[in-house]
Amino acid sequence: MLDRTDVKAKGLADLPPVESDSLLQLIALAEADPRSDKIDVGVGVFRDGSGRTPILQVIKQAERRLVETQASKSYLGSAGDKRFTELLRPILLGEHAYDERIVGLQTPGGCGALRLGFELIATINPQARVLVGTPTWPNHPPIIRSVGLEMAAYPYYDRDRTTILFDDMVAALSEARPGDVVLLHGCCHNPTGADLNHDQWAKVTRIIVEGGLIPFVDIAYQGFGRGLNEDAHGLRGILAACDEVIIAQSCDKNFSVYRDRVGSLFLKTGSAEASSRAMAHVHQRAREMWSMPPDHGAAAVHIVLEDDELRAQWHVELDAMRTRINAVRQRIAAAHPMLTFIGGQYGMFSMLPVSKEQVLRLRENYGIYMADSGRFNVVGMSDEQIDRFVSAIAECIDG
Ligand SMILES: Cc1ncc(COP(=O)(O)O)c(C=O)c1O
Repeated sequence: MLDRTDVKAKGLADLPPVESDSLLQLIALAEADPRSDKIDVGVGVFRDGSGRTPILQVIKQAERRLVETQASKSYLGSAGDKRFTELLRPILLGEHAYDERIVGLQTPGGCGALRLGFELIATINPQARVLVGTPTWPNHPPIIRSVGLEMAAYPYYDRDRTTILFDDMVAALSEARPGDVVLLHGCCHNPTGADLNHDQWAKVTRIIVEGGLIPFVDIAYQGFGRGLNEDAHGLRGILAACDEVIIAQSCDKNFSVYRDRVGSLFLKTGSAEASSRAMAHVHQRAREMWSMPPDHGAAAVHIVLEDDELRAQWHVELDAMRTRINAVRQRIAAAHPMLTFIGGQYGMFSMLPVSKEQVLRLRENYGIYMADSGRFNVVGMSDEQIDRFVSAIAECIDG
C-alpha cells in the first residue's frame, strides 16, 4: 500500500517554463528599445498618421451615453447583448441577415468566437479534421489544438514569390474528407494581406459544397480592406451555397475596441430548428468557459449601431482607417520594385520576403521591429516614419 509520503504530489512549482508568444516577445523587445526613432511594425493594431491607436469618436460618445443611461449591471446571460448581435447581422451577413437558419451570440472577441466554434465542432465530431492554410494567424493552431481537434495544412501563400498558391490550395481542398472543416480568412488575410478574388472564392465555395466540407470563416477585419460589403463578399457567397457554416467575427479592429473584447459567433445549419439546437450546445460550452461575455464594449457598439447618426459617423471613421491603410500600402509599394505586391493586398498585414538575418539586421541597425516571418503591420508606423522604414527595407533588400 502506498504511504501518503511515497507519492510526491505535483504542485504549481512543477510546471515547466512556457515559451512566450513570439509576437508578445517582439512587443516587449520593441518597448525596451531606448531609441526614440524605433519603428514597431510587429504590433497588430491600427495606428493613425501620428502613430497612435485612438479611441473612435463614436465609441467615446457611446460610452458617455452608456454611463448616463445604463440602469443596471445585472447578468445578461451566455448570449451577451442580444441586440448587439442582431445589429451586426446586416453588416456581416448582408442579404442573409433575415435568414432564420443563421443564429449568433456575443463572444469575448474574435478569439472567443474561434474557440467556441471549434468547441462546437469537437462536440459534433471529435474526429473532425480542421484544414488550415499555410501560413495563418499564429493563434489559430493553438486554439484548434486546445479543443483536441486534428489539424491538416493546405498551401495558401508563397512568401518569396508573393503569390497565393491557388492551384495547390484547390488540389489540397479537393482531397479533403467529407466533414472536414476548412478555416478561411474572410478578408484582410493575417499574416499575408493576400485575399482571394471573386473567382477564387467561387471555386473554393464549389469545392466545399461538392466535398461535403464545413466552412469556418474567421472575419476579424471587415471594413479594413475594400469596404464593409466587399470584405464580406466571400463569406456571403459561402452562406448562399452551403447549408452549414461557422463564422467567427470580431469588432475589436473595426470599432477599435481591442481590449474590450467584442466579437460574435454565428452559425448556419439547414433548418432554423437544427440551428437553435446547435446554439443550445454553444451556450453550454460558453457557460463552461466564460459563462457570459464582458458587456462594456458590446454595449458601446450597440449604441453606435442603433443610432443613425452615430452609425453614419462610424462609417466615416472606419473609412478613414481603411484610407490610411491603403495609402500607406501605396507609398510602400511605390518605393521599390520588389515591394510592388504590397499595393495589391488588403488589411494591415503583409509579409516581406526577407530572411531571419535580415529581420534581425533591421531590428539592430534601424530599430525596426517585425516578426521573424517578415510579417509587418503597414500602419504600425506613423506618417513621419514611412520614408525611413521604406529606405531601410530597400537597403536591406538591395543588400
Ligand atoms: C485572423 C484573426 N482572427 C481573429 C483575431 C481575434 O481578434 P480579437 O482580438 O477580437 O480576439 C485576430 C486578431 O488579431 C486575427 O488576426
